[in-house]
Amino acid sequence: MDLCSNQVKLSASAGWHPGPVLGIESSCDETAAAVLSHEGEVLSNVVSSQVAVHEKFGGVVPELAARAHLELIDQVVEQAVSQARILKRNLAAVAVTQGPGLAGALLVGLSYAKALGYGLRLPVIGVNHLQGHIASAWLADPTFPIPCIVLVVSGGHTHLYRREVDGRCILLGYTRDDAAGEAFDKGAQMLGLGYPGGPAIDHVAHFGDSNAIPFPRFRGGKRNLEFSFSGLKTSLLYKLREMNVLPSPDQIADLAASYQEAIVQVLAAKTFVALEHSKLASLAVVGGVSANSRLRTILKERAVQGHIRLSVPPLEYCTDNAAMIAAAGRQMLIDGQQQSLGLDICPMETIGTEGRVQVNSYSKRG
Ligand code: KG4
Ligand code: ZN
Repeated sequence: MDLCSNQVKLSASAGWHPGPVLGIESSCDETAAAVLSHEGEVLSNVVSSQVAVHEKFGGVVPELAARAHLELIDQVVEQAVSQARILKRNLAAVAVTQGPGLAGALLVGLSYAKALGYGLRLPVIGVNHLQGHIASAWLADPTFPIPCIVLVVSGGHTHLYRREVDGRCILLGYTRDDAAGEAFDKGAQMLGLGYPGGPAIDHVAHFGDSNAIPFPRFRGGKRNLEFSFSGLKTSLLYKLREMNVLPSPDQIADLAASYQEAIVQVLAAKTFVALEHSKLASLAVVGGVSANSRLRTILKERAVQGHIRLSVPPLEYCTDNAAMIAAAGRQMLIDGQQQSLGLDICPMETIGTEGRVQVNSYSKRG
């Protein structure tokens, strides 16, 4: 049975009557809820981070994440609805992350959304987390042009897409091994900078020299749009081993700055190769790693030089949030996608394997 297909239609509430949409996100370590207005404006965006729960373990513990979502979800949703200054009964739909993500964590959000939808007779729409990140590019910049190139860089994904006018996302390239966020998190762990690693490296790198230490930068040929960060990670490990003594704070800063530079330069270089090949002039960069200050600077500089229209979301929409889920879900409802109380979680990403594949995006289901 295909757990990801919407098979059981909502009876009384099958129709989508435009109005405020509640978004719920619980795929990893943020419990989030947000409300978008009838017109798609963000009325509230509440994110409760679980950093305190996981930091002593140096990473996300799936079972603890699920339990924390269970504890937090009701109050986070209540807060989002009250900050939006609406009543739950005025909601028009609930959009919820279906996957990819941690199974237990996803189940909490999806079960909550289905119960709410059932109780209030609202359509419930399942949203792919990557579609949510992609939608975040339009939250602060609704007129951002399509077709465009989209780079999704998060803890689990480093994916380059070409987004078409009809909403299809064509996969142009992705990472062969670690995601960029994973490279940040693992690097920070080796450097003793803690969890979450991306913001920690971003911070410490400001005090270091990005040219101090040479790190490998995977290119794979001029036209290659694949990424690989495992060699970089191994290189950091060996450099630390070679040092024999614990690195000083200055050395840590140099290592962090040089390591970060290797990641962000490759991300920017490949993304601009994709732009060049596609002859498109608009670029969206989304996902947690798009919060990186050095990456944002490089992208802005290159976009100005190349006359590229750039959309990098404000920081609150880069890392996991529910406004992006509400935005993607709202678009799916507008496009006429059917909703279902039979939806199930999709912990694994549902895209093809090689080359040009179509992501289950904003287009109507057949
Ligand atoms: O999108 P996101 O919040 O969750 C996933 O979908 O994975 O991305 C989380 C990732 C983590 O790996 C985190 O270290 C990274 O985004 N991240 C950053 C920064 N802020 C978050 N990486 C580099 N620099 C940052 N400022
Ligand atoms: Zn994410």
